[in-house]
Amino acid sequence: MSNMPELGFGQATPELVLDRLPVQGSLPDWLHGTLLRNGPGTFRVGQQQYRHWFDGLAMLHKFSFGPGRVSYANKFLATKSYQEAQATGRIAYSEFATDPCRSLFGRVMAVFSPQITDSAKVSLARLAGQFLALAETPIQVAFDPETLETVGVFNYEPGLVGQMTTVHPHFDEAHDTAYNLVTRYHRISHYRIYSVRPGRDNQRLAQIPTKQPAYMHSFGMSQNHFILTEFPLVVNPLNLLLWLRPYIENFRWQPQRGTPFWVINRHTGQLVGRFDSDPFFAFHHVNAFEEGNELVVDLVAYPDASIVNAYYLNRLHDPQAELPFGQLRRYRLPLGGGRARYELLSEACMELPRFDYERYNTNSQYRYVYAVSVNPQQRQGFYNQLVKVDARTGRVQTWHETDCYPGEPVFVGSPGRVAEDDGVILSVVLDAGQGTSFLLVLDAQSFAERARATLPHPVLFGYHGDYFPAEPLLPR
Ligand code: CO
Repeated sequence: MSNMPELGFGQATPELVLDRLPVQGSLPDWLHGTLLRNGPGTFRVGQQQYRHWFDGLAMLHKFSFGPGRVSYANKFLATKSYQEAQATGRIAYSEFATDPCRSLFGRVMAVFSPQITDSAKVSLARLAGQFLALAETPIQVAFDPETLETVGVFNYEPGLVGQMTTVHPHFDEAHDTAYNLVTRYHRISHYRIYSVRPGRDNQRLAQIPTKQPAYMHSFGMSQNHFILTEFPLVVNPLNLLLWLRPYIENFRWQPQRGTPFWVINRHTGQLVGRFDSDPFFAFHHVNAFEEGNELVVDLVAYPDASIVNAYYLNRLHDPQAELPFGQLRRYRLPLGGGRARYELLSEACMELPRFDYERYNTNSQYRYVYAVSVNPQQRQGFYNQLVKVDARTGRVQTWHETDCYPGEPVFVGSPGRVAEDDGVILSVVLDAGQGTSFLLVLDAQSFAERARATLPHPVLFGYHGDYFPAEPLLPR
């Protein structure tokens, strides 16, 4: 039996700086840039365990590509959560599904004091001219992309009281302005859309009031609209303010609410309408675009929110456990009014979906979605293959290797390409047989392996990252 759960959901890997990783195969000669990834650097502090895949202390990973070579470095984000864990050997801050052992008084104070984790480990982005490690908490952590040193914090609005955000900001066509959703918890709560631009104050563009806010890990954006998909996994904000249990365990699945789409005009901030649909859950929106009088929203959907529970570490350590399958759905919202309806674009299991954002967001011409997936012949365990789904034809291409567990596939387009999928896929793969990880480079068209660069250690299962072509990454 594979020791995949211990390798992928276990303890800290050492911090390293390696000038050159051993490479098998050949890297494209145009690949000059850096893949930055974020994720948990450990699921254990001293004798204590975190409880959920979305817990843990943030670690950044950096793969830089030069002519025929790859360098690597990894580093824990130097946050208060990390420093206190180092100093005391105990978990000191509240995570997604883990609360440290505290007095009731401590619990009541949780949202009013920075006892929520600052270990921003879910994703990263270049936002307002700086590199930020992103979390759903309001504390986003700036870092130096060259050294991976922590340099400071960033907030959407002043104060940390009762706000949560997403780790999936959208960028406008010029890649100049970023947009994100912030949920502010209060007696009447609000979903708020903010814009962030270098050298400007963050601007609130729109808000929608709600009594029972939903857990939303991402939102949609088309050429003219923001789309808030209000999954019926909702919270009584009072329970969050009391914080009697870890963050996500305050939310309840209420399928009778259905899943309404709230559509906001991107240019005016005005509410365009609410489009009801049957209940479903998703972490990730994929693409969204307008087609005639319809708004098309692609996302990786689940019939309910049981996927959240499937990611508890005790479940992931169970070799018999099977993950619920996320699937690529295309919802059509009639802008003239009416219910949203969907078609299934593929039967394949999908999660951590990526597509060619630079070129195809807000454009109906896009076709390809890349994702981690579960092989239907080997359903027990964790994500064990990569898929490429053609949203137009439903064709699925697969990369699979025995006892290998790939992470989020990041698409990097080749320069001057014409075909949408002319480029490579980069994915950090845990090789449970070898007990180490490697960076896999796939040809995005054929989905065949081009190269792999082997690391000396296993990398815990992470979430999101991105590729940055420009070097140096920061102006000097
Ligand atoms: Co995500």
